[in-house]
Amino acid sequence: MNKDLAKALSDQVNAEYYSAYLYLSMSSAADQAGLKGIAHWLFVQAQEEMAHGTNIYQYILARGETPAFPAIDAPPSNFSDAKKLFDEVLAHEQLVTGRLNKIATMAMQAHDHSCYQFILWYVNEQVEEEESATDIVNKLAMIGDNKGLLLNLDKELAARTFVNPFPNMFQ
Ligand code: FEO
Repeated sequence: MNKDLAKALSDQVNAEYYSAYLYLSMSSAADQAGLKGIAHWLFVQAQEEMAHGTNIYQYILARGETPAFPAIDAPPSNFSDAKKLFDEVLAHEQLVTGRLNKIATMAMQAHDHSCYQFILWYVNEQVEEEESATDIVNKLAMIGDNKGLLLNLDKELAARTFVNPFPNMFQ
């Protein structure tokens, strides 16, 4: 694998772990606001992000490259309300999509078909990531200031379960 691509993948591990940090920070804010279902949804999201990052780390090693470990940025910790929080989730996922598309283009240009194939899983996963965030943003826009409806959505989001998309990762 060329060194630029290896660095881009290492940076993506960092970005996935930053995403996990961001969602944990959001989860704790929701928990403290009494929105336990939203806190749970974000906690599951953070677990997914760690799985995404770990899987890329393992791929870097499998390709004989040395992963780098740059510092993970501190996430914000103040979120004014659920709607604004999920606006930020959606904006963040759109940013991640842009990053992954860039890596896919780099892999394509390097004729690294394995890396291209590997990163395509992530590119496609972003469709679902953006769709679920958009769905929640739209619901929160409809809910407005109605606390009862917000609690209904909170209950709905409490039902999310974590399924590791890479079940052999820790074996
Ligand atoms: Fe790892 Fe939210 O994408």
